[in-house]
Amino acid sequence: MAHGLARGAANYGDRDFAIYLRRSFAKSMGYSRAMLDRPVVGIVDTRSDLNNCHRSVPELVEAVKRGVLANGGLPLAFPTISLCEPYLTPCSMHYRNLMALDTEAMVAAQPMDAVVLVGGCDKTVPAQLMAAVSAGVPAVQLVTGPMSANRFQGERLAACTDCRRYWARYRAGDVSEARIAEVEGALATTAGTCGVMGTASTMACLASVLGFQPLDAASAPAVHADRLRIAEEAGAQAMRLVARPVAPASLVTGASVENALTTLLALGGSTNALVHLAAIAGRAGVRVDLRRLNALSDETPVLVDLKPTGEGYMEDFHAAGSLRAMLWEIRDLLDLGTPDLDGVPLGERLGDGAHFVDRAYVRARAEPVSPVGGLVTLFGSLAPDGAILKRSAATPALFESQSEEGARCVVFDGVEDLAARIDSDDLDVTQADILLLKNAGPLSPAGMPDAGYLPIPKKLARAGVKDMVRMSDCRMSGTAFGTVVLHIAPEAAAGGPLALVETGDRVRLSVANRALDLLVGEEELARRRAAWRPLAEPRRGWDALVRREVMQAPEGADLRFLTPTGA
Ligand code: FES
Repeated sequence: MAHGLARGAANYGDRDFAIYLRRSFAKSMGYSRAMLDRPVVGIVDTRSDLNNCHRSVPELVEAVKRGVLANGGLPLAFPTISLCEPYLTPCSMHYRNLMALDTEAMVAAQPMDAVVLVGGCDKTVPAQLMAAVSAGVPAVQLVTGPMSANRFQGERLAACTDCRRYWARYRAGDVSEARIAEVEGALATTAGTCGVMGTASTMACLASVLGFQPLDAASAPAVHADRLRIAEEAGAQAMRLVARPVAPASLVTGASVENALTTLLALGGSTNALVHLAAIAGRAGVRVDLRRLNALSDETPVLVDLKPTGEGYMEDFHAAGSLRAMLWEIRDLLDLGTPDLDGVPLGERLGDGAHFVDRAYVRARAEPVSPVGGLVTLFGSLAPDGAILKRSAATPALFESQSEEGARCVVFDGVEDLAARIDSDDLDVTQADILLLKNAGPLSPAGMPDAGYLPIPKKLARAGVKDMVRMSDCRMSGTAFGTVVLHIAPEAAAGGPLALVETGDRVRLSVANRALDLLVGEEELARRRAAWRPLAEPRRGWDALVRREVMQAPEGADLRFLTPTGA
């Protein structure tokens, strides 16, 4: 097989001419023939003026290049789609698969012997790993790293748990207009991804456990010199892959995916990681079993004390011993034989346990933050295919409905309806009700946004209500907290039972029984089902392709034709 710049040359009947042409064009950029004869390491450059989390990508790319050059390769950076949470409409999730498709196509189509994927913000790392598995080119993940917390008037702040905390206080009337404006400039003050154990940090940890980057690469702060050394090493790692190629799919096995699930639980990590992990695993033909998640959750303690569920920030986690220290505590729950890109088994990567650990942030097994895992899956007549609750970020007093009759639902038909009515003084709602949002799943025009953290209605917030049960078929930001049931499947737009719920219906939640049931008679449901009509189809473009191909949350909300079974 051809290597370097000669890989995948266009075949118009004269392959030698195609390579000659490619080299002569490459020479216009000033490369010598000796450089053009080297193995090529592609570098996915996701810098964008619309992605603050990737502000440091240019210097990371330079450091990767250093690592490639020092090891005899030719580094060639190229752009792909870049996604940052706050800047996309209807939401970033709607475009994760587009980024995966773009990245896969550009990695597979251009000449490179290995690739370094520079990502960081929530959707970028899963998109890049999905792409790597499908493209089949040996790949190294390099995350941008978390932002550092800001010292501000006696407290520490970082996006985005503190953003939500302050905004909730502002809605409740505890924080003035002037104060919220002042805090706006103090929440995110360095380069890097959200500084808590949100989705970006969780996915960075899972990328490390799966073996696509070193363990400490998940948490080294974006502005720390270590981050640049990790980038240089990513270049060197890519060159080792040139010498000893590893198919990305070979790292995504039943055992490594289960290790990732266990890690997610012990981190008290983001619910979004479940959808993303299912999508990455799905590209390798591995299924994430949500019932198995419950079994793992029962035996896996939460050991990391970070926001949004605890106190610390990612920079504390890194200084406290990081992922290695946490994994060491749960090594008996892991398959220690799963390899990384160098073929080193996880057990060896963990070392001998003689590392420094700050127990304020990485707890000992005997003194966990919680004796059971952060996430549970609920099943029942409202969620035949499952729903997720992050119990580590929820209020235990709300885990069980107060009676067998469940609680009354206040239903919103979609995100526009939610925005229009949630703060209305006329909204008939009490703290004991369930706020239920439908038509916000992957098939809906909303595209599965992180709107599952429905705001507490202003009139209840002002009366001091901090949490109430909320349910939907969409996601919640990994930086959020509350008693929030998410990813209800099948979603409303697919005609699932959620589509049939009306205000006044009663729903019973039992975290103890992992149950979520709609208490409406079969006859009435049949009547409503007969009257139900699907939402209008988008006519063209990406939206139409998504509507035709997107799968449900338990399958990772990937596009069917991009999976091995759907292709
Ligand atoms: Fe990019 Fe939070 S907005 S990681």
